Amino acid sequence: MSRTRQLIDRLARERVLSAGEFAELLRSRGPGDAEHLRALASEARDRVFGKSVFLRGLLEFSNYCRNDCLYCGIRRSNRRAERYRLSPEEILETCAQGHALGFRTFVLQSGEDPRYTPETMAGIIAEIKASFPDTALTLSLGEHPAGAYALWRKAGADRYLLRHETRNRDHYAELHPPTMTIESRVRCLHALRELGYQVGCGFMVGSPGQTPERLAEDLLFIHELSPHMVGIGPFIPHKDTPLASAAPGSVDETLFLLGILRLMDPKLLLPATTALGTLDGTGREKGVLAGANVIMPILTPSEVRAKYLLYDNKICTGDASSACRMCVQHRMESIGHVVDTVRGDHPDLGPPPPPALSAPPPPAAPALQ
Ligand code: 5AD
Ligand code: FES
Repeated sequence: MSRTRQLIDRLARERVLSAGEFAELLRSRGPGDAEHLRALASEARDRVFGKSVFLRGLLEFSNYCRNDCLYCGIRRSNRRAERYRLSPEEILETCAQGHALGFRTFVLQSGEDPRYTPETMAGIIAEIKASFPDTALTLSLGEHPAGAYALWRKAGADRYLLRHETRNRDHYAELHPPTMTIESRVRCLHALRELGYQVGCGFMVGSPGQTPERLAEDLLFIHELSPHMVGIGPFIPHKDTPLASAAPGSVDETLFLLGILRLMDPKLLLPATTALGTLDGTGREKGVLAGANVIMPILTPSEVRAKYLLYDNKICTGDASSACRMCVQHRMESIGHVVDTVRGDHPDLGPPPPPALSAPPPPAAPALQ
């Protein structure tokens, strides 16, 4: 058996490899290895989740951002981005539409927009949870003080997505302004975990400067953190950023990494991302076949969705939410999967069981005299 095949089989058994072995596997993967990994990862996913794919409605409510990440189309320095923000009422109204479409998880995502203070956000969160008590709420709002995370958790937020982007300090510095550090990012992830959020980290595949060795650091970091979710997708250049002329990431490498992540943690919530669907017309289907089990159709209102552009050529920017909802359902059915509109919590977690419907049995009748 080939060396790479052996590494994949050992990963399936032991769930982790050394940094050197991960790097070797990524560097030497061939088409046969990809197919072998896909089969094992798909099996591992099926044992935990069957053919169910969880849906999350993605609501991109503001593209203002105080940060300046070099890869991102809504970075502060991009004067050409047309900025928008939705009011709390518009956010609530969009959730109502999403709920009617069957979504039971909403993901509120934005740039780091100081206009929504921690208190404003907490109000929005509490209202969504009061209006739709059967839904889970995920936040994806970037880095904030632990106090804000605590406030939002108390207001009812269940999950938080904060991609670490790259665990390698030098690579992180190559992709971000000097005001941002990987240490701060990791501190946020630990704070979120301690507050009881279901936590997601993740990275772009093929970002400029990424190497197999650096990817191995990401994988070992994920092994240590043991998050509930991991979001990965290919890097895609945005024309109005400093990385405009960089090459995009590879679809095959993204699929291979999805398989590795699935073998590292069969219970992981692992989305097939919009970026994957952007680089390849059937990228999301391929992602699910490679081991993913979550899809996040866009729920952002039509009037603004074409403005939330982190990268070029993003799909779905001209589609209505209802169209995306049905489109995703058909796409999943075309590959033998089914969309599942439950909350879709991590298998080890989730809400407390609902109170018993029937009243407790009456006390035994007193014995007859
Ligand atoms: N290409 C692909 N993904 C990107 N993201 C930001 N910019 C790009 C890009 N140019 C990802 C980042 C971020 C997430 C919300 O989107 O990983 O965490
Ligand atoms: Fe948006 Fe297919 S998911 S059009």
